[in-house]
This record gives sequence, structure tokens and C-alpha cells, in this order.
Amino acid sequence: MTRLTTVVDPRDPDHLAHREAALERLAALEAEHAKALAGGGPKYTDRHRARGKLLARERVELLLDPDTPFLELSPLAAWGSDYPVGASMVTGIGTVEGVECLVTANDPTVRGGASNPWTLKKALRANEIALANRLPCVSLVESGGADLPSQKEIFIPGGAVFRDLTRLSAAGIPTVAVVFGNSTAGGAYIPGMSDHTVMIKDRSKVFLGGPPLVKMATGEESDDESLGGADMHARTSGLADHYALDEPDAIRQARRIVARLNHRKAHPDPGPAPEPLYDPEELLGIVPADLRTPFDPREVIARIVDASDFDEFKPLYGTSLVTGWAALHGYPIGILANAQGVLFSAESQKAAQFIQLANQRDIPLLFLHNTTGYMVGKEYEQGGIVKHGSMMINAVSNSRVPHLSVLIGASYGAGHYGMCGRAYEPRFLFAWPSAKSAVMGPQQLAGVLSIVARQSAAAKGQPYDEEGDAGMRAFVEQQIESESLPMFLSGRIYDDGVIDPRDTRTVLGLCLSAVHNAPVEGARGGFGIFRM
Ligand code: COA
Repeated sequence: MTRLTTVVDPRDPDHLAHREAALERLAALEAEHAKALAGGGPKYTDRHRARGKLLARERVELLLDPDTPFLELSPLAAWGSDYPVGASMVTGIGTVEGVECLVTANDPTVRGGASNPWTLKKALRANEIALANRLPCVSLVESGGADLPSQKEIFIPGGAVFRDLTRLSAAGIPTVAVVFGNSTAGGAYIPGMSDHTVMIKDRSKVFLGGPPLVKMATGEESDDESLGGADMHARTSGLADHYALDEPDAIRQARRIVARLNHRKAHPDPGPAPEPLYDPEELLGIVPADLRTPFDPREVIARIVDASDFDEFKPLYGTSLVTGWAALHGYPIGILANAQGVLFSAESQKAAQFIQLANQRDIPLLFLHNTTGYMVGKEYEQGGIVKHGSMMINAVSNSRVPHLSVLIGASYGAGHYGMCGRAYEPRFLFAWPSAKSAVMGPQQLAGVLSIVARQSAAAKGQPYDEEGDAGMRAFVEQQIESESLPMFLSGRIYDDGVIDPRDTRTVLGLCLSAVHNAPVEGARGGFGIFRM
């Protein structure tokens, strides 16, 4: 065993200051999560309860096995937009009858559970996760369909939700829809495209057009029940496979459906794993409030991997990227973690080699981001930094083992790409509240804009407005800083959530377990041309 050592002193004033800053950020994060939990607020939740209905999260909780975790995804979706935080939908991974499932639940207390552009993005991300990891899907449906004022944003791309359901089914991934209320118009295709459907007496409403629309279209007089009630669908149309008497009965039946799926994970679960040697509480004091101050990612690794046991690969070469092998909750992983922030040619080559090794051995990869990007400057350009950075990005792009990314500090520029940023399709990507991600740092970006504007003025023979420049820089710096923060990025669903650093091991363990539902098979070739 190769146990990592530590130099962290939890009583050190710097450590305490970093911890204090982290706790402040966590409190701010909790306040935003609380908004998602509050759904449509007291008026709509009270009305919903008065109708004898369960809230979206209560439905999820009843569906899952008692005392098992729920890895909620994209809880801050729509943060910073015109729509409520959480995007009127709950998505996540939980265990039903011992089977890990991707669960989605509309929140009918938020604008009738209607889908706005962020609901759509969140739902599509959930489908992506289900497909990549072969997770059975359970949809807890009650929605006013498209959010009508934003229909232009969602109508055309929204077809992908139904497409995905049938593609999941075609891939042999089971889909279950439980209809708690409204699921009309396009929404009718959710039960329509699912493998299994449960409908509830006097509650489910599944039809392409409601009574007013039917009246307009054909002149026929009708009512909700005869057009799309559970009785009709269970006895006459045959769209309902299961008829439930009330919500708990529907959830019980959904659990029975999952119990009978004969679902088998591609890889057996590993046995119990030893905890890290060091207290995860100390993770709060490791990342400095000012990301320009470097920190040793081994201190993070030592607090998330089994027994703090880590075998480093090429420790003396390309030292600003730490690479090595460990286990996390019993699953083997390869880790790439930035150390001093900048990626040079040696780091890039080391990363490419390490990624190839993980692919040969079928070992999932974990990327711990704290990078300001690839090194610039004459010496580095002449040394081939473009070639070597491309080599790393090639390796990340064509690697076939599951990737997990955690933004713990900076994630700037092409460094975000090389470290498997969102566009490189890591199976899961989470951020710590300390993370920041953008094309470059705010000062650098404002400075570049200023130089470009100055050159442009000079080329036109115009005097440069220095006062305007100072104002522009301050404005741009502030704008880029706010757009780099995790809540903003999470609001745009550029990650799967912002997590408490102390939960990292648990979250990654849940992800690794989910990932092993699908076969973990690395690329044995199939990389692009590596520029040597
Ligand atoms: N788009 C935008 N806003 C919607 C909406 C939609 N599709 N559905 C509901 N809302 C809004 C309502 O206007 C209402 O807003 P308000 O409280 O500020 O007035 C709020 O959400 C709650 O709706 P309400 O009708 O009071 O809730 P309910 O629980 O009694 O009924 C529905 C829910 C979904 C059955 C009902 O709102 C409805 O029929 N909506 C339209 C459904 C539809 O035709 N969708 C188009 C499908 S493509």
C-alpha cells in the first residue's frame, strides 16, 4: 500500500481562513438549494396538498428504497434565469428495489409543472445520463406541458424528450411512466413512449387534446375522464398497463415493475472499502479563497480515495499534473489532478500516456480541475505546446472509459477541455463552491480586450479613451467573474451540480456505482492521429 501523507494542520490560521471562506460559500449555496426545495412556494404547495397530492420530492422519496441515497442532478438548473431555480423538475439517481434508476419528477407547484427551456435541458441531460450508464428510467409525471410563453425555445428541440425515451427502450434500457395528473398534448407521449405505464384513478389525464380543443377541432362534446382518465386507459384504450387507486398505490406498483425488470449491472458491486486516513472535514481548508495560491491536490486525493492509498505515475515528470491509480469505494480509478495550475508540454504528454493506460486496463478516470490552462509564450510555443495540448485533448476525446470531472479550483481556457470539461462528455461533472471556469481569468480577459481596443484606435489614428478603458475593464472584470462562478454555470446546466467538498467521496462513489451498470471498456485504439 502507498499511503499518502499530509501536511495539513487544521489549526493553522491559513487553513482556518480558507475553511471560513468555504463555509460562507456553502451557506450561500444552501440558500439557493432551498429555493429549489421550496418549489412554487407556500401558495401552490398548500393548494397541491389540499388536493390530497404528494409533492414531487415526496413522490421520489416514496419510490426509493428506504434509507438509501438520492444523487440529485442539476438542482440549480435555471439559476440566474427568468425561471425558478430547479426548473420545475427533480432529476437524480436512486435505488428502487435494489436497482439504480434515473428518476425524474415534474414539480406541479411551479407553473403547473410546465416545461420551460431549462426544464427541457435538465430532462435531456437526465436522459443522456440514463443512456450512457444504462440506468432504467422512472418518470413521475404531472405537467402542464410546454410553458406556453417560451414555446419558441422548446417546441422544436423538445421533441428530443420523446425520441430519447424510445431510444432508451430500443437500447434495452427500461422506461416506466407513472402519471399523477396532467400529461396532455406532447406530454401524452411520455406514457406513450414508455415501456411500462401506471395511471391513477380520477387523477391521471392523458390525451392529445383536452375537451375544449376537441370541441374546437371536431365539435364533439367530451370530458377529461372519457378522453384520458385512468379508467378509460386501463379498460378501453389499453395505454395504462397498471391501474392504481391512489398515489401511494401507484408508487408501490412502480416499485413492483422495477423489481420485475430482471435488471443486471454489467459489473458486480465491490465489497466494503476502507475509508481515507484523513478527515474529509479538512477538505474545506485546503483550497485557498484566492485561487492564485497553489495547493497540493494530493491533499484532496488523500481525503477521497480508499485508505488514502495512491500509486503515482511519473511523479517526477510533468510535475504540475499529478497522475496515479487508486480505488474509490472499491472501484479502481485513475486520477489526473492539476498541481501548480498551468499545463506544459510534459504534463500534456504525461496525461495522454496515462489516459491510454487507463483505456488499456478498463479503468475509469477522475479529473480534478485546478488549471489556468496551457502555457503560453515563445519558449512554449517553440517547444510544441499546441501539439502537446492537442495530444492530451485527443486522448480525452477518444478515451472510452467513463470519465468523472470535479472542478475544485480554476478551470480556465483549453485546460478545461484537456481536463475533460463539459463538452468532452464526462459521465458526471460536479463543481465545488470554490470553482471558477471561463475562457480565461477576468483580469486577463479585460486586459486582452483593452489591448485589442488600444491597437484598433492606433490603427485608425484615433486617441485612446483611457477613462473609458478603465470603466470598461472594471465592468468586464465584474461580468466575467460573475459568469465564472459555480452557481451561474450550474444554472446553465454546465455541470451536474455544485457539491459540498466533504461529500465528494460519497458523490463519486454513487457515480462510480451508476457507471458500472454499463460495461466499462476502454478504447484499444481508435484515437486520432497523435501529433508527436
Ligand atoms: N404554460 C405556462 N404557464 C402555465 C402552464 C403552461 N403550460 N400551465 C400552467 N401554467 C401556470 C398558470 O397560468 C398558473 O399561473 P398563475 O398561478 O400565475 O395564474 C400556474 O401555472 C398554475 O396553474 P393552474 O392552472 O392554477 O394549476 P392547476 O394545478 O389547477 O392546473 C394544469 C394545472 C396544468 C392542468 C393547467 O394549468 C393547464 O391546463 N395548463 C395548460 C395545459 C396545456 O394546455 N399545455 C400545453 C401543452 S403543449
